[in-house]
Amino acid sequence: MILPGSASQSLAVALATELGEPLAPVEYDRFADGEQMVRAPFDAERAVVVASTTSAAAHIELLQLQNIASRQATEVVTVLPYMGYGRQDAAFREGEPVSARAMAQAISTSTDRVLVVNPHEPEVADQFEVPCESVDVAPRLSLPLPDELREPLFLAPDAGATALAEQVRDAYGGGSTDHFEKHRDPASGEISMSPSAATVDGQDVVLVDDIIATGGTMSGAIDELDNPARVYVTCVHPVLVGNARTRLARAGVAGVWGTDTVEQRVSAVSVAPSIAAQL
Ligand code: R5P
Repeated sequence: MILPGSASQSLAVALATELGEPLAPVEYDRFADGEQMVRAPFDAERAVVVASTTSAAAHIELLQLQNIASRQATEVVTVLPYMGYGRQDAAFREGEPVSARAMAQAISTSTDRVLVVNPHEPEVADQFEVPCESVDVAPRLSLPLPDELREPLFLAPDAGATALAEQVRDAYGGGSTDHFEKHRDPASGEISMSPSAATVDGQDVVLVDDIIATGGTMSGAIDELDNPARVYVTCVHPVLVGNARTRLARAGVAGVWGTDTVEQRVSAVSVAPSIAAQL
């Protein structure tokens, strides 16, 4: 039985189809005081809760769904297509929480097992108190690419995304890879890249990252490209806050896509087959 979070309904439908498992008749509601309520009456041995935690409300809803699942099924699996707060995986300054740990602890209380799609750092999986596996969907990001790219360069906007860029290159079946070093000014949030120029004369460039949030990292990288042919931008988690989509369009990209871990218009790639393979 699949229990969808309200932000992950399309993915849950795709997963139910992939697995041949039914969807619970879920209802999302609010009380007059604003408190959330979710209902999902079902009868099954196994419950698979599928919920991206893209907001505080989605976190609460996930805990509610897990509570329902753990009282009605004998086995509960929690799938986090996108794990919110996953980037806060350390106390970066004195007095700060390790928010990823706090979230993981709460999520662990009512589940037997967790699957997380491409967490920001692999160590995030160790923060859970039940078995947790990562689902790696990076190769699927090559699917929307045109067949005939011109001398493609698969470029990571920072060193941390190098492995993703290599996986997309390998899945595409050719091309070179490279990465920038990213620096973010702690006060202004301004992003700069080094080297501050990359000659890609006449080449097609495919920028690959795990997350696009404000679009600052990707547009900063595009600024450093010297005379590319076409520039494509892809990521696992298209969070796309504020004016991110416009920002990327204004930077001149030929295409933007991500997966359905965060359900957006650019979610051209479904992660359902990868999740189903690990369930
Ligand atoms: C950071 O290390 C991540 O891999 C992404 O590069 C970052 O989250 C993207 O954020 P934004 O789109 O706001 O620059």
